[in-house]
Amino acid sequence: MTDLKSYFITTERPYTEGAVEVFEQPVSAGAAEKATLTITALGVYEAEIDGRKAGDALFAPGYTYYPRHLTCQTYDVTALLAQQSTLRVWLGQGWYCGRFTCDNKTRIYGERPAVSWVLEITAADGSTTRHTSRDADVTAVPGPYAYAGFYDGEVYDESNPQPVYPPVPFSGALPEVIEPGKITTALQETMPIQSVTKRGSVTLLDFGQNFAGLIEIDPAKMNGECLTLRHGEILNEDGSLYTANLRKAKAQIMYHKSKDNRPYRPRFTYMGFRYVELSGCDYAEGLLTAHVLHTEMPRTGYFSCENAKVQRLFDNQLWGQRSNYIEVPTDCPQRDERMGYTGDGHVFALTGAYNFDTEAFWDKFLTDIRYSQADNQEGYVAPTIPAQGSAGIGFINMLGWGNAVTILPEMLWQQYGTDRYLREQYDSMKSHVDCEIRHMGGLLGKKDLWIAPNLGDWLSPGKDVKYMAMHNGPVSNAFIVNDLRIMKETAARFGKTEDADRYGAQLEKTRDAYLKAFVKKDGSMKDDYQGAYVMALRFAVPQGELWDKMFARLVSMLRRDGIQTGFFATEHLLPLLAEHGESRLAFDLLLQENCPGWMYQIDRGATTIWERWDAIRPDGTVNEESQNGDNMVSFNHYAFGSVGEFYYRYILGIRPMEPGYSRIRVAPFVDERLGKVSGSYLSRAGEIKTAWQVENGQADLEITTPSETELILPNGERRMLQPGSYDFHCSI
Ligand code: BGC
Repeated sequence: MTDLKSYFITTERPYTEGAVEVFEQPVSAGAAEKATLTITALGVYEAEIDGRKAGDALFAPGYTYYPRHLTCQTYDVTALLAQQSTLRVWLGQGWYCGRFTCDNKTRIYGERPAVSWVLEITAADGSTTRHTSRDADVTAVPGPYAYAGFYDGEVYDESNPQPVYPPVPFSGALPEVIEPGKITTALQETMPIQSVTKRGSVTLLDFGQNFAGLIEIDPAKMNGECLTLRHGEILNEDGSLYTANLRKAKAQIMYHKSKDNRPYRPRFTYMGFRYVELSGCDYAEGLLTAHVLHTEMPRTGYFSCENAKVQRLFDNQLWGQRSNYIEVPTDCPQRDERMGYTGDGHVFALTGAYNFDTEAFWDKFLTDIRYSQADNQEGYVAPTIPAQGSAGIGFINMLGWGNAVTILPEMLWQQYGTDRYLREQYDSMKSHVDCEIRHMGGLLGKKDLWIAPNLGDWLSPGKDVKYMAMHNGPVSNAFIVNDLRIMKETAARFGKTEDADRYGAQLEKTRDAYLKAFVKKDGSMKDDYQGAYVMALRFAVPQGELWDKMFARLVSMLRRDGIQTGFFATEHLLPLLAEHGESRLAFDLLLQENCPGWMYQIDRGATTIWERWDAIRPDGTVNEESQNGDNMVSFNHYAFGSVGEFYYRYILGIRPMEPGYSRIRVAPFVDERLGKVSGSYLSRAGEIKTAWQVENGQADLEITTPSETELILPNGERRMLQPGSYDFHCSI
């Protein structure tokens, strides 16, 4: 592999947030047979030859744990080269040293950005010429970017070039590993404009859909010298753009018309928005084109039904994934955050793995976890990955977040049939779980639980941070029980008997301690909130009489109070009900129109999933409740979109019976309120399709399956199916 480590360059520009470096190098192609450009950066780069971009990756080389790991790209640029060409490389600060994280830090991973490239030209006779970033003919040229950064956007002005600093060798620390990247973030479909409204001196565009993307500008359609675009998710009551929830992110593009009328597309930012406010120019057809962007993943899951709101919710969770699978599983795409949250990531991961083939995305993220964890003083997995450098655990232990390290590899095994991730992650899982054990007082120690301040079932209605700090135990410790189970089973699977025994013994003790600490004999819980019950039932309490009593109590709480769960418990709520004879209640909760509830959001025009159940309160105001002194309300957080699991695994009834769907279980739960339902999942074993309709107590079903399948009909009858398509009819 090309030794990119030898060619890093930067400039001595004093640190200015948002600065962009532009380097050029003359290239004579001669009789090139083939030309490849291998390139990476500490920062984000785009490379062009004579103005034409190499490849289609955005924010390359991508976001990894830079202190230890960097990825690179190799592009075939043969077709871009002329006899005499110019290679131009744009280098922004990106995640590496630009402004990033909810604390709005700069220079998280380094002081200045750096780039390294090797352009290799092979002639017909097999001889090769190399051009590298360290060659003497590389120059820095004045750039048009007065500012470029993820949160604030870009200020682009070719008529006002930025001061130039010559290239110098980069002397900062380099990560040990530089290797080809596994994923690509790129532009996807364009998003049509739904309406254009003139409001005084500004024009408001509505795309009818919240999404993560970019606006491209055609300067030929501008009737002024400069235009400004502001992005927002919703409107104020008076119809103006609402931006208070973006916090310190300006989410703004200021573009000065270029002389050559080349279309402009932001290079160093993206936005989460439904609306764009245009000022400085009048709107003209073709002036602005919106592009969706996300990390590339093949689409695998589909659902349709006649109930428009149930359909809309499915579409909303799908848009949540498109908007938040951007290099890392982000929490949201719009405000000054957009970080790789492990907790948000794993609650939505199973849903996401049906919507799209996410194996490569998680392969990359699990790698980010491993490298990040190496710099955690306790071997713990941080709530956001890539971590922001070396750290300890901190005051709040964030149990529920870092547990992605065990949950994701197990999910990938079940869904994609490969235990590669369990194997590769084994030491990392172990290190995380051993850290949990130390905090429980050591193996088979006195405590067997980790009681500490924690966020618990995050964003449970009516349960604030203060409450959860004292009452999170049953939620946070349920994650430990689950970790111990996964460790025990994984160790046994790989023949690591000693580990299997160790984790198995701790699992027993922690389960006992859990019951003692949190559950009363009558099946009620000391911390008596829904999330505690759901997590206990799902992970900690063995099936039996006590379990049944607790479940009965949860059911009566749900009948009385409706949904009151937060990020974690919501994932399991409807599945738990459907699996234990309460599918009617599960559908009631799905369809419930009051707050908190999914249909409540749909009734208020949501086109993605809200962060808070009551992001818009019943009185119509935005819930700007503060969190650490700043408001926290996003309209595009996919966590509550984990309801997608209910769609695929219960409504359509599709799930693996063996990892990777080599054997399948199809068990649809039906409800006449959905009308005709159909959907499919392209599993690794082939496409599985189900369709059903219920009328007057009669269900009609169509099933297509690629492998041996156990079918459970809605009346409880069990059939074994061989690959093929089938029709069924039954009374329910
Ligand atoms: C993020 C999350 C996250 C939470 C936990 C929020 O600011 O947006 O979704 O899980 O913090 O700390």
